[in-house]
Amino acid sequence: MSWEQTLDEAVAAARQLASPGSRKLLGIAGAPGGGKSTIARAVVDRLAPLACYVPMDGFHLSNAELDRLGRRDRKGAPDTFDAAGYVALLRRLRAGGADTVYAPAYYRGLEEAIAAAVAVPPDVPLVVTEGNYLLLDEGAWAGVRPLLDAVWYVEIDEATRLEQLLRRHITYGKTPDQARAWVHGSDQRNAELVARTRHRADLVVHAAPAQHPGRPPDGAQGAMADDGSSTPPPGAHDAHDAPTAPPANGGNPRKELSGD
Ligand SMILES: Nc1ncnc2c1ncn2[C@@H]1O[C@H](COP(=O)(O)OP(=O)(O)OP(=O)(O)O)[C@@H](O)[C@H]1O
Ligand SMILES: [Mg+2]
Repeated sequence: MSWEQTLDEAVAAARQLASPGSRKLLGIAGAPGGGKSTIARAVVDRLAPLACYVPMDGFHLSNAELDRLGRRDRKGAPDTFDAAGYVALLRRLRAGGADTVYAPAYYRGLEEAIAAAVAVPPDVPLVVTEGNYLLLDEGAWAGVRPLLDAVWYVEIDEATRLEQLLRRHITYGKTPDQARAWVHGSDQRNAELVARTRHRADLVVHAAPAQHPGRPPDGAQGAMADDGSSTPPPGAHDAHDAPTAPPANGGNPRKELSGD
């Protein structure tokens, strides 16, 4: 199945969750570089104004805090995020209410998150959130899954995933050697951990490589940067671009969007 067909199916499945008058949360998990952000943004762009995009990456600890903790060399590992903060935000988003809820977003160009970068108006029926650890059943991460109405696991063949990840590290300033070391070191440990959570997903989405994956023309929600925000701040040089409760299906993905 082509990327476009996979996206069409994903949009149709997400649309089922977006009923005006109620608030639903869709999570998208998967290994680093597998295409979570790309598909989440593309789905939200296609469903706007019925959907908003809230990235887990907005909860990266700051570089200063990672230095203080001695964890900068493992940035991206589960303990380098404010997982409890993310859970609290999901709870607020789920509760709905009369106010706009603001969420942070991570800017790869700055290598930092910025508070209140994403606005979720009160009447938006579907919030699409994505990140590595939505299905992790450890520590505060275990609080994520029960707050999500559905979780998909996005994957692409392993060679393509590694290539995408490598290319992105180089785009954002690493040398090819540094990028390779990161992809096969820190990223790979995270990828293996995330892969062990795949069976908790409701749906596995197989992504095919695309020429221009999910970059809509600017406008509406289509102008989101690689990191999920609609307007990169000055200095950002982004080119464009759990559970305590078991899942309802007893642990196996109910359905797969196959795309091989
Ligand atoms: N189907 C695809 N075809 C071609 N390129 C893709 C596809 N999906 C993603 N990409 C590219 O691969 C890179 C990684 O994708 P993306 O950022 O969506 O992955 P991710 O799972 O969100 O990664 P991370 O966990 O690091 O945030 C990006 O540069 C993106 O443009
Ligand atoms: Mg991402």
